[in-house]
Amino acid sequence: MGRTLTFKIFRYNPTKDNDQPHIESYELEETPRLNIFTALNFIREQQAPDLMFDFVCRAGICGSCGMMINGRPTLGCRTLTSDLPTTIELFPMPFFKLLGDLSVDTGVWFRQLGEQLESWIHTDKEFDPTAEEERMDNATANKIYDAERCIECGCCLAGCATAQVNPDFLGAAGLNRIGRFLVDPRDKRNDNEWFELVSTDEGIFGCIGMMACDDVCPKDLPLLEIFAYIRRKMSGTLLKGKT
Ligand code: SF4
Ligand code: FES
Repeated sequence: MGRTLTFKIFRYNPTKDNDQPHIESYELEETPRLNIFTALNFIREQQAPDLMFDFVCRAGICGSCGMMINGRPTLGCRTLTSDLPTTIELFPMPFFKLLGDLSVDTGVWFRQLGEQLESWIHTDKEFDPTAEEERMDNATANKIYDAERCIECGCCLAGCATAQVNPDFLGAAGLNRIGRFLVDPRDKRNDNEWFELVSTDEGIFGCIGMMACDDVCPKDLPLLEIFAYIRRKMSGTLLKGKT
């Protein structure tokens, strides 16, 4: 016989008059291979029709189902209840704007991040759709590919102590984004431009090295390596004498 699970879920609808943040409990019989996505759908269908939470792909790809599961930021769709105790506490991720219950707005934050970091290749080259693709060595292409695997779930920011006290901190997602363009030989931003962008308390020098982001990133991005690379590059620019 399966276990009886108790879900303790943070409930709060900021758009509802007089609603107060509180915890509600729901019980559910565990079924084989039950994950948090399916469990929340059962709870919404059977017990709490107004429960708010986000999911799209159910496959760890879209990044929309980040939430605090027993205190750890992670993806609901990739978390099996069989890996958890019978009491499961679900909270929305901190750092992002709360939309209601378990739903937070990561999209606005990531859009603003993209604009702030100018997340596109900076080049003077005119785009020629008839030109042959330029070749890139495998090692560089793999580094770019690795950084591009970020699904913008926000778990790294929800787990980051610095981000909780400095809302302007770029976090692992932002630093990873910078790393992605920094290694790309097609991006012609110079050392000084990179330095201005990332060598601040909101950037690489705001990181105090607790590396919770590295522990919780569901895509296992090589964040330690990326941070070390950015730090080395920025220190090099300083030593060369930033102009
Ligand atoms: Fe999510 Fe990892 Fe990207 Fe952070 S770096 S947003 S934890 S995939
Ligand atoms: Fe897309 Fe979980 S629903 S990552």
